[in-house]
Parts: sequence; C-alpha cells; structure tokens
Amino acid sequence: MTTHPRQMTPRSRRRGVLALVVVPSVVVATSMLALYLVVLPLFPAVHQYYFPESTATYATYRVAILGHIVFASVALIVGPINLYNGLRRRHRAAHRRLGTAYAVSVSLAATFALFMSFHAYAGTLPGGRVLITSGLFTLGCVWLATLSLAVRAIAVHHDVDRHSFWMIINISATYSAVLFRLLNGAIVAVGRFEQLYPLLGWLGWVPSVAVGVLLARRHLARRHGRVGTASILSPWWAPGRWTPPLESAARRSG
Ligand code: HEM
Repeated sequence: MTTHPRQMTPRSRRRGVLALVVVPSVVVATSMLALYLVVLPLFPAVHQYYFPESTATYATYRVAILGHIVFASVALIVGPINLYNGLRRRHRAAHRRLGTAYAVSVSLAATFALFMSFHAYAGTLPGGRVLITSGLFTLGCVWLATLSLAVRAIAVHHDVDRHSFWMIINISATYSAVLFRLLNGAIVAVGRFEQLYPLLGWLGWVPSVAVGVLLARRHLARRHGRVGTASILSPWWAPGRWTPPLESAARRSG
C-alpha cells in the first residue's frame, strides 16, 4: 500500500506537533526563566531595554511575578510534552506524575496571574486598563476552569475522553504565552508597543484557545465520530460519566 504524498503519517504528525508546539513552548519558557532569574538580577541595566514600563511594578510585586513566571514556565514545558501519545500509552506512571506537576504549576501560576492582571501595564490606549486587566483576568479564569474540569473528569469520573478534551483546551491556554510573545514582538517591531500592548490582553490568547477548542473537538470526533458541543458541556449541570453519542446510539440499537 502506498501513502498519498499529502497524507499525514503518525511520524510526520508527531514532527509537526514538535515543531509547532513543543519547540516554541520550550524556547519561550527557558528564555523567560533565563531572563528573569539570571540576566535581570545579574545585569539590572538590561531593564532599560526590556519592558522598562514594568520594572517598578515587578519590583513591588516580586513574589507574585516571579512565582507566576517560574510555575507558568514549568507548565509550558511539561504540558505539551505530556500530550505525546507514546508517553501516555506506554509510560502511564510518567504521564500521571508529569500531569500532577503540570496541574500544581498551572494552579499556582494562574493564582499569581489573577493578582498580576490588576497591575499589568495599561499602555497609552484609552481604556487600556480595562482591556488588559479584563483580558488577562479572563484568561486566568479559563486556565483554572479548564484545568479543574480536566482533573475532575479523570480523578472523579475516570472519563478519559472528557479529560483529554479539557486538557487540550487547557494546554492551548498555556500555549497562548507563545502567541502573546510573538504579537508582543510584532508591536515592538512596528514601534507601537505603548499604544497597542493592552489589545494583547485579548488578542494574545483568544486565537490560541479557539484553535485548542477545534483540536479538542477533532480529537473526540476521530475517536467517536461527530460529537456535539452540548454533549461535552452537559455534565457541568448533570455530573456523571459522559457517554459519547455514537456509543450510546449503538447501545440503544444493540
Ligand atoms: C495562560 C495564562 C497566563 C496568564 C493569565 C498570565 C498573566 C500574566 C500577567 C497578568 C502578567 C503581567 C503583565 C504585565 O505586567 O503587563 C504576566 C507576565 C508574565 N508572564 Fe504570564 N500569564 C499566563 C501564562 C504565562 C506562561 C505560560 C508563561 C511562560 C513563560 C508566562 C510568563 C510571563 C512572563 C515572563 C511575564 C513578565 C512579562 C514579560 O516579560 O513578558 N505567562 N502574565
């Protein structure tokens, strides 16, 4: 049997995920850790060149911003790696341990992020304070809510489908740190950082989470055929083990 040149093999799909998700995540996380834990403490003069608007704020809220950066970076490294099929299937114990480290890191990073959203740089755009704070606060809530739905699905209901659905969306929220920094670089490059920064409060994560929702739905559709959003959301108000529509239809007819 020949493989159509445009058909994705599992190996090429793995390489795609590696290039688009894991590598950028690890690069952003390690460079942020190096910047805030090594470069800025050793060479404070660098503050003049990197985000000088936030130097005083970050000095005031040192524990919150450093706590956020350290735990968020751990999450950004561990989360995408833990999505790997091979790790999930062949090394269950490692998947569980990394998953626990990821959940603890997101919980702490998000708690610090909710606090920091009230002190984020508001820029010069009218309404900048509302835009940046509401956007990053909402992202912090999405981060915590999708994590608790994913953990509850596996720990309470042993529901692997629902767990993977919410985890894919949660990791897309974590991954928004990469999108945020790409857009940040773009507004610096066009010389409009002070004016446009508050827009990143929303533009820096909504596209990433939207793609996450599409990927999570596609993941379930691959396993069970078409899956309606309502069937995924329903246990919010009717807890219990979720039965995929096709399985329940097969059971009814069988
Ligand atoms: C996904 C949910 C996240 C939320 C809600 C969030 C929220 C925030 C907030 C409110 C600030 C202060 C912004 C300002 O001063 O203008 C901040 C800064 C920062 N965050 Fe996050 N963050 C998230 C994810 C991450 C991740 C995954 C990383 C991993 C590298 C990260 C790294 C940083 C860094 C390094 C800063 C300092 C500002 C900078 O140098 O860019 N954040 N974050």
